[in-house]
Amino acid sequence: MKKRDSFNQSIRVPAYVPWISKEDKDAVLKSLNQTMLTLGPTLEKFELMFAKYTQSKHAVAVSNCTAALHLSLKALGIQEGDEIIIPDLSFIADANAVIATGATPVLADIENDGFSISIKSIKQKITRKTKAIIPIHMYGEVCKIMEILDVAKSNNLYVIEDCAHAIGTFYKGKHVGNFGSMGCFSFYPTKNMTTAEGGMVITSSSKLAEKIRQLRSHGMTKSLAKRYSSKYPWLFDVKEPGYNYRLDEIRSALGISQLRRIDKINALRKKAATYYTTSLAKVKGIITPTIVEDRSHSYHLYTIRVTKNFGMSRNELYNLLRKNGIRTTLYWTPIHEYTAYKKFVKNSKNYPNTEKTYEEILALPLYPTISRSKQKQVIDCIIRNARD
Ligand SMILES: Cc1ncc(COP(=O)(O)O)c(C=O)c1O
Repeated sequence: MKKRDSFNQSIRVPAYVPWISKEDKDAVLKSLNQTMLTLGPTLEKFELMFAKYTQSKHAVAVSNCTAALHLSLKALGIQEGDEIIIPDLSFIADANAVIATGATPVLADIENDGFSISIKSIKQKITRKTKAIIPIHMYGEVCKIMEILDVAKSNNLYVIEDCAHAIGTFYKGKHVGNFGSMGCFSFYPTKNMTTAEGGMVITSSSKLAEKIRQLRSHGMTKSLAKRYSSKYPWLFDVKEPGYNYRLDEIRSALGISQLRRIDKINALRKKAATYYTTSLAKVKGIITPTIVEDRSHSYHLYTIRVTKNFGMSRNELYNLLRKNGIRTTLYWTPIHEYTAYKKFVKNSKNYPNTEKTYEEILALPLYPTISRSKQKQVIDCIIRNARD
């Protein structure tokens, strides 16, 4: 039976399909035979493999990327009274992580030539209370990280890179996440690699890595392995109250298996993205992402812009695709539009690039196993409705 959506329309092309291989399933089942189901050898192996892949000194796995962002801010000592600059066109997780520390999120506009947080807007938002910037490598594409680092350096600010979309994104020979103090990754099911729920922090600082390790496990100063190899395992200290933000062995096993084929996954994503771009590049009113030959984009999302010159509005195109069984979505509603965050913005007109982008963007179905014929259905539906 065909899948149907909540409007009882059949789904011919889903927005996303997770790719769980036989190897992934075997790895998960094998991990269930372990005696230690959390804080065991599989987690350690996953962290080491992730650090190696991202060429970072330390990788600390946590329960999700929101936890990774929260702990990164905590490890830097962010607290009430501090201000953290984040893009307004961003997932709510970044704002929520800032709020969880007691600090205030300060929303910045994005650039007008892409999706990076705007350098001009960052400069306008810096006050004496500003402590850090959280740029996002949106949709898998490296943001204006060099310029952001320059502004951060001259204003004595930390940079925490949100790499939720960007596993496999390299810039100037370095994996993203290694430019700022920390990089935070997500393994949510739609991401380029998944552990169902999961996240990772990378850093070159042993001190920050150790702090995050403690905070992810209730603030305990000794790891489980250290406690059980010592005389009295209950003897540990808690210098700062922590959380239970651990990633268990089962998810770590899935992470290892997925990470083993991340380059293949990303190559398939790029191939599908290239097919969209070559097919849609000449459609009047549609702006497609540029396909880059280096690895500065990992094609987590394929977001087109539906401009005024197209035959219909973005919402009309969304509805039409949906009627044709094609699921698309967009990332995201600007943060200042949510009830809880309205108070953080004095005038939404100060976010012209975010507002315009929000009106135009649409993420087309993209996943490593998407077939040409499914992509063709999407492409044909768009082309049929373009102006001549
Ligand atoms: C840019 C960005 N940051 C952070 C997150 C939060 O990730 P998680 O769901 O792993 O907490 C997401 C999730 O989609 C995201 O897209």
